[in-house]
Amino acid sequence: MNMKIEERTELMRKIKDEVVALKKSPLYGYRRESGNLPVIGEGNHSAKIMFIGEAPGRNEAKYGRPFCGAAGKILDQLLESIGIDRKEVYVTNIVKDRPPQNRDPNPEEIKIYGPFLDRQIKIIQPKIIVTLGRYAMNYIMPKFGLEFEVEPISVNHGKVFTVPSQALVEWGWKDHEIKVIPLYHPAVAVYNSHTLDQLKKDFEVLKNI
Ligand code: URA
Repeated sequence: MNMKIEERTELMRKIKDEVVALKKSPLYGYRRESGNLPVIGEGNHSAKIMFIGEAPGRNEAKYGRPFCGAAGKILDQLLESIGIDRKEVYVTNIVKDRPPQNRDPNPEEIKIYGPFLDRQIKIIQPKIIVTLGRYAMNYIMPKFGLEFEVEPISVNHGKVFTVPSQALVEWGWKDHEIKVIPLYHPAVAVYNSHTLDQLKKDFEVLKNI
């Protein structure tokens, strides 16, 4: 299904409006009292590559932009290292509001915000989904018929998984090929040079496909 860019932008705007008004979310009250913003996502609405993290951190919730803090700097450097302009890709998270104290998102939050991410994937129809960290990997792989391939991120990082055609049919896509590439979360690389080296190598995989 080929959507015009205006249609994609309108559908994204609708998602934003719904998330802004998402009073049933356990993170809504915290967003309001701390003056935070929801972080919907950013980039090209018809991107070939979509990056999915877990939830906004402090900077992201302050500015309403994904990956604009320390982890974002690393993501920018990694993209630059393989000659991809961040404006060409789409970057988002599973959970659209910041959890307090940067704690990991919990299952209830993932359940509430996950459907917005699913809609974003349907709008963008990427060819490559790059998951950043284990939360995004654990969410995306089963959604794309790769549940039996889920392993710890230390095993799956940098591997290229082709989405089986049956899963594509379930997403309503014919004649569309999607690859899922799990990577370590760039936030880990802020303090761990081994993870940073590994991320650099894994980005080469991305470059090659
Ligand atoms: N970590 C994430 O998972 N997402 C962001 O947007 C920033 C940090």
